[in-house]
Amino acid sequence: MVDDYQPSSEQTLDRDCMTLSRHVLLQLQSFGPDAQDLSALMNRIALAGKLIARHLSRAGLVADTLGFTGRTNVQGEDVKKMDVFANDVFISVFKQSGLVCRLASEEMEKPYYIPENCPIGRYTLLYDPIDGSSNVDINLNVGSIFAIRRQTGDDLDRSAADLLTHGRDQLAAGYILYGPTTVLVYSIGHGVHSFTLDPSLGEFILTAENIQLPAHGSNYSVNEGNFWQWEESIRDFTRYVHRHEGYSSRYSGALVGDFHRILFQGGVFLYPGTVKNPHGKLRLLYETAPLAFLAEQAGGQASTGTQRLLDVVPTELHQRTPVVIGSAEDVALVESFIQERLREQEAIAAPS
Ligand code: AHG
Ligand code: MN
Ligand code: MN
Repeated sequence: MVDDYQPSSEQTLDRDCMTLSRHVLLQLQSFGPDAQDLSALMNRIALAGKLIARHLSRAGLVADTLGFTGRTNVQGEDVKKMDVFANDVFISVFKQSGLVCRLASEEMEKPYYIPENCPIGRYTLLYDPIDGSSNVDINLNVGSIFAIRRQTGDDLDRSAADLLTHGRDQLAAGYILYGPTTVLVYSIGHGVHSFTLDPSLGEFILTAENIQLPAHGSNYSVNEGNFWQWEESIRDFTRYVHRHEGYSSRYSGALVGDFHRILFQGGVFLYPGTVKNPHGKLRLLYETAPLAFLAEQAGGQASTGTQRLLDVVPTELHQRTPVVIGSAEDVALVESFIQERLREQEAIAAPS
């Protein structure tokens, strides 16, 4: 019998024990009710991620995973079967959790309110169940994006008006990236951390802590197919990166994958406004604000091109905003072209 037993200090054993829920409690240095809630919320997110990852891994083999439902959503977009499956997974894992009172999703015009016969919590989950769904049928990476906000007020009229506040009200934000491995990236305001799903354990294991978004990177990520739809300033930026050494175009059609690359390697992702959609395509409350929260927590920046993204106050649940997000220097470069054009327009408009 060894009396001064020393547990194996093997790194991998310690690492395998750093699960998501434990990490949240360590982050908060607390085991109080709020910390326990956030830990439980993140655990539910992780369960949703595992269920969606499992379904995606069998897409094509299992009926009703690929292709379209034939319906269009509130965005006017064709709904994929995977969008609906993932949307319902989040509802089912949160419905009995006693943690949330509502779930607001890209796929639902109004938030889903937890039914009376289920335990009601004091948080709201906002999510994009499948981001980049055009990639589902061709086996390319997709993601889920989430944000957690505390319920304020009683929302008796079910207008969910209390959700229409700036992104600095987010308690937690993150995404799950379904790629060669399934990765969960999150922040609760104490840095950005990445976990990789170990299918043999069924646990997300910490693989990168306090991620720092590089001050500059070579990647620029934008759909240049919209070149002639953009403001001249965005064309100015694009011409600049075309003419200068050291830039690479990387665009996957899934925001989560393009952002994940920039989070680790630096650079800038843009979805600017176009003539047809001056506010761009991406939705603030469950796409750009959660990623802006992460970007700033990791030392990067996120703006609409003219305003800090986390300061934007939406007027409606599915509001879109243009987005410029990534390395501080590269976001500033894009903004400098926008400011230059605005100064020119002001000079022209100024009375001579
Ligand atoms: P979603 O699948 O949730 O609608 O999101 C798709 C978004 C985003 O993931 C991606 O960056 C963008 O749409 C791509 O849009 P374009 O095809 O217009 O470039
Ligand atoms: Mn999306
Ligand atoms: Mn989506």
